Amino acid sequence: MQRNIILIGFMGTGKSTIGRNLSQTFGYPLIDTDTLIVAQQGRTISEIFESEGEEAFRDLETNLLHSLRKHSGHIIATGGGIIGRPINRKLLRELGYVVWLIARPSEIFERTSRNTNRPLLENDDPERTIRELLELRTPRYRDTAHLGIETDNLSFDEVATGIIESARYHFGSQE
Ligand code: S3P
Repeated sequence: MQRNIILIGFMGTGKSTIGRNLSQTFGYPLIDTDTLIVAQQGRTISEIFESEGEEAFRDLETNLLHSLRKHSGHIIATGGGIIGRPINRKLLRELGYVVWLIARPSEIFERTSRNTNRPLLENDDPERTIRELLELRTPRYRDTAHLGIETDNLSFDEVATGIIESARYHFGSQE
């Protein structure tokens, strides 16, 4: 197993923000799968969904996870739907220590309603979509993660410190 820290969790649970915080505070380089896909494709996620559909985006995620297997010592923040495919769940665990960020549905709704770059929530009832997707995905996040953290009452710093301490313990116990 490689020694990366991988952040998974639903949209709006703070993966990118916590990823940046971990990277800046502890000096590990950050890879954000959404950002990398957008950079490689030269298109926004909404544009990819619109022109080629969701499955094409999922293929890009799977390809990217394969290509990350040569990396170690990185923080990897992922898109909320990356746990959909069994192959992705396997690849994620091979990449390192997988941390699942958990937030209340109301908090997710509040955070995601602030911007419009999430095609899956651009419909008449995003709150309902959040509830349905959460129900479908929660067992997959749980099965994939080594650690789950309830973020609702914690600061970003507290979450980041908790992750680093647990990851060090995890990697230390593997040596
Ligand atoms: C998605 C989450 C998004 C992005 C895409 C699909 C999902 O990432 O990958 O819009 O299926 O939950 P964030 O979790 O960073 O918003």
